[in-house]
Amino acid sequence: KFLIFTFVGIIHLLYLDSGKAMCKNDISQRTFQEIQKEIASYGDIAKAIIKLAVYGKAQNRSYDRLALLVDTVGPRLSGSKNLEMAIQIMHQSLKDNDLDNVHLEAVKIPHWERGEESAVMLKPRIHKMAILGLGSSIGTPSEGITAEVLVVNSFNELKRRAPEAKGKIVVYNQLYVNYSMTVRYRVQGAVEAAKVGAVASLIRSVTPFSIYSPHTGIQKYQDGVPKIPTACITVEDAEMMSRMASRGVKIVIQLKMGARNYTDTDSFNTVAEITGSKYPEQLRPKRTLRLVLWTAEEQGGIGAYQYYQLHKVNISNYSLVMESDAGTFLPTGLQFTGSDKARAIMKEVMSLLQPLNVTQVLSHGEGEDINLWIQAGVPGASLLDNLNKYFFFHHSHGDTMTVMDPKQMNVAAAVWAVVSYVVADMEEMLPRC
Ligand SMILES: *[C@@H]1O[C@H](CO)[C@@H](O)[C@H](O)[C@H]1NC(C)=O
Ligand SMILES: *[C@@H]1O[C@H](CO)[C@@H](O)[C@H](O)[C@H]1NC(C)=O
Ligand SMILES: *[C@@H]1O[C@H](CO)[C@@H](O)[C@H](O)[C@H]1NC(C)=O
Ligand SMILES: *[C@@H]1O[C@H](CO)[C@@H](O)[C@H](O)[C@H]1NC(C)=O
Ligand SMILES: *[C@@H]1O[C@H](CO)[C@@H](O)[C@H](O)[C@H]1NC(C)=O
Ligand SMILES: *[C@@H]1O[C@H](CO)[C@@H](O)[C@H](O)[C@H]1NC(C)=O
Repeated sequence: KFLIFTFVGIIHLLYLDSGKAMCKNDISQRTFQEIQKEIASYGDIAKAIIKLAVYGKAQNRSYDRLALLVDTVGPRLSGSKNLEMAIQIMHQSLKDNDLDNVHLEAVKIPHWERGEESAVMLKPRIHKMAILGLGSSIGTPSEGITAEVLVVNSFNELKRRAPEAKGKIVVYNQLYVNYSMTVRYRVQGAVEAAKVGAVASLIRSVTPFSIYSPHTGIQKYQDGVPKIPTACITVEDAEMMSRMASRGVKIVIQLKMGARNYTDTDSFNTVAEITGSKYPEQLRPKRTLRLVLWTAEEQGGIGAYQYYQLHKVNISNYSLVMESDAGTFLPTGLQFTGSDKARAIMKEVMSLLQPLNVTQVLSHGEGEDINLWIQAGVPGASLLDNLNKYFFFHHSHGDTMTVMDPKQMNVAAAVWAVVSYVVADMEEMLPRC
């Protein structure tokens, strides 16, 4: 996802079938050998798609289109004018590209603005720190909050030292283990600090690498716990304050945050289709391919939730939901959640990507915008790519087109196009059990 963060493109596939029971489509009489043979027959089509996306007319198209969008619009925070501008541009662009059934579906989304913000160390020396307020944080009074700092390395240390926290700014200097482990400090850091009487909290950015870049993201308050202002700071400043504190040096910070929460605002999910055709000579897959650009993913899949509520009546016609929420670096395969039978079929489909050496099928196809469908039994897939550097840039000002490589994006586009085309065109839906 891109800097301050909006929708994520996904594709899911709709099938022509009126089944009700979740596993109705499993009464297939076909043997696995027949399915294997069917998938193998897509070899030439897969090669043609790869040629188009990686070497041919569509080379660098993903990169060029993304660059145009982000250069034109900039950051697209939920509730902002920029987000609505991005949605209008994408809506028009999908129409201009002759997709079918292009439309917007209204969604109410959170509207929070970061405002002006600063953190200045006053003691032991004057030092202006780079910060980014965390999404949904309250602001400070206009004169700011000036308080002594308590540095801790973990929630356990905070618990042990709870009596020292009252009236202080808690600075978390947790080590980076991996994203899912470490992000708890960003999400719950303010609540845990408030429970022991802190007046604000500053969180070491959740990243394995830093050149003095704060990395933001959503945080959550808890009912019954006071709301305190919270922001992320750089790895460098967190480590420095930890060293200072271990020398017994008193640290004082003045934190000013102009963050404000507004009433929910109008937004849209953007939907487009390539309507299915039962006739292959029309060069469309038999089933409909639907693209959804969900709004307000970062706030907890707000657009995706609304889409699910509206469309779940038709769940029996969904063959596969796919999402790309973890970068578009060089793909290495597909993460997949579904039955063993469906997994075996996906392995055959991915074998069509042998010319690109992107054939792995791993576990955990889940993604924020497709989880509700997966939990309800629809097979789901996420693009797996080289994540080594993903969290270097994630949610920071460094998350720009400069990080993107057109050649890697071409491969990602080819993988997505082959998988979605073939699954949409196969005789049968993916089995759910
Ligand atoms: C695509 O991008 C690559 C890498 O920047 C470049 O070498 C190539 O010429 C570009 N191709 C087209 C068609 O613009
Ligand atoms: C993150 O680290 C924890 C603790 O080492 C481990 O249990 C978990 O599997 C790791 N998660 C990922 C996604 O690698
Ligand atoms: C922000 O405002 C919305 C709409 O009034 C409300 O639902 C939400 O709980 C508020 N968020 C915070 C963190 O106060
Ligand atoms: C559900 O499917 C039916 C039949 O295809 C269609 O008429 C209806 O519009 C669909 N509903 C939604 C919310 O997409
Ligand atoms: C599934 O699709 C078929 C064919 O378009 C349609 O007749 C049927 O009503 C749909 N069922 C549901 C539950 O959407
Ligand atoms: C093919 O992909 C595998 C798994 O990602 C990797 O280990 C291997 O080095 C790749 N081979 C080539 C020739 O790129």
